[in-house]
Amino acid sequence: MQVKDLTPAEWPWLLLLDADPSRELVDAYIHQSTVMGLLEGDAVIAVVVLLPRDRQVIEVMNIAVATSHQGKKLGKLLLAAAIERSRQLGAKRMVVGTGNSGIAQLAFYQKMGFRLESIDRDYFVRTYPEPIYENGIWCRDRVILTLDF
Ligand SMILES: CC(C)(COP(=O)(O)OP(=O)(O)OC[C@H]1O[C@@H](n2cnc3c(N)ncnc32)[C@H](O)[C@@H]1OP(=O)(O)O)[C@@H](O)C(=O)NCCC(=O)NCCS
Repeated sequence: MQVKDLTPAEWPWLLLLDADPSRELVDAYIHQSTVMGLLEGDAVIAVVVLLPRDRQVIEVMNIAVATSHQGKKLGKLLLAAAIERSRQLGAKRMVVGTGNSGIAQLAFYQKMGFRLESIDRDYFVRTYPEPIYENGIWCRDRVILTLDF
């Protein structure tokens, strides 16, 4: 397995849309981002999208591991590579936003050292046309987590 930067032709759209169901929203940030992939042979089995917000802050816009490969520490491996890349670029902070209903995601980021920063109430209600439910919870609020280097 190897982690490498992906060219637009290699972007794994099914995976990207698994983490963010709006193609329009993904298109709005991915062209200004660094897209890193985890490859098994030629297949991209995980992806992370990093968008510089300013010289010191990098936001994780999207991270997804193929369903068949989830729960095998590959998300942690790829996020660790993204953190290392952000440090090398001179960033002082990483930011990520996730839904209030994403119990696994909230666990995942905190296990990687991220801390709760703030809540953008009704972000998902404002941003997505259809209501989102996860774990039986209405996904309304965006929880912002940060990792300071
Ligand atoms: C979220 C995601 C990227 C995590 O990747 P993954 O490869 O499945 O996760 P990993 O195996 O690397 O590890 C996840 C960690 O979170 C923990 N975790 C996951 N679900 C958990 C839960 N419900 N409660 C507690 N811990 C949980 C795991 O135990 C593991 O920590 P550990 O090493 O201490 O055991 C992946 O599940 C995914 O692609 N989900 C769909 C897309 C998505 O939701 N992306 C995020 C958008 S914000």
